[in-house]
Amino acid sequence: MTMNREQVLHEMGLGPVWKLRVTPAATTVEDLAAPATAPAEPRRETVPAIAAAAPPGAMDWDELAAAVAACRQCRLCEARKQAVLGVGDINADWLFVGEGPGAEEDQRGEPFVGQAGKLLDNMLAAIGLKRGTDVYIANAVKCRPPENRTPAADEAAACRPYLERQIELIRPKLIVALGRPAAQTLLQTEVKIASARGKLHDYHGIQLIVTYHPAYLLRTLLDKAKAWEDLCFMRRTMKAQKGG
Ligand code: URA
Ligand code: SF4
Repeated sequence: MTMNREQVLHEMGLGPVWKLRVTPAATTVEDLAAPATAPAEPRRETVPAIAAAAPPGAMDWDELAAAVAACRQCRLCEARKQAVLGVGDINADWLFVGEGPGAEEDQRGEPFVGQAGKLLDNMLAAIGLKRGTDVYIANAVKCRPPENRTPAADEAAACRPYLERQIELIRPKLIVALGRPAAQTLLQTEVKIASARGKLHDYHGIQLIVTYHPAYLLRTLLDKAKAWEDLCFMRRTMKAQKGG
């Protein structure tokens, strides 16, 4: 039996997400209240001396946030509105890493707030998790790639020290790499999702699981059963670590 996309989403418990796709972008009170004509905030392009002097590997959260906000280490700085460091619980057991900010993320300064983000939130809910509670969400690159293209290898390499520092500071129990660019950046090797998923990988002593990017699932849904398996695998892996 073949199912249409709506039926599949419904079966995944993601039906409302699909419905949200057809609503206008600006539907929240906040969005509507935001004055469209407000002058843009001046960009912060100055790094505090201490942050500029310290390598990312020695930064605390404030220094890291300041350094990323002002970073010009790769060409992705040119078209961004703002760099997007990450969001959530800085003591989280769970770290989810995506590819890079999209248009909405660039506007709002938070990862995964667009359509893929709504799916990610529902995937989190499916395993009893919630954005911000024991969960941190970041991206492989902090600035939006133009036209939402995949980050180039040199861009991912330029940005990696920030992600590495985030991981050192958070010390999560489990890292979930969402899609190939995140997996390759973290594992520093060529990755094919089809063969990398369903296995436990190691990131400097931290367990790492690779799965599909939510935007890919939204586009294709061919792999929805596998996405479910991956969610269950994540939950089992975390439970095993916690002795449950
Ligand atoms: N896709 C990503 O990989 N990251 C985001 O923050 C949004 C969409
Ligand atoms: Fe800097 Fe990363 Fe933005 Fe490139 S993508 S400018 S390395 S913060």
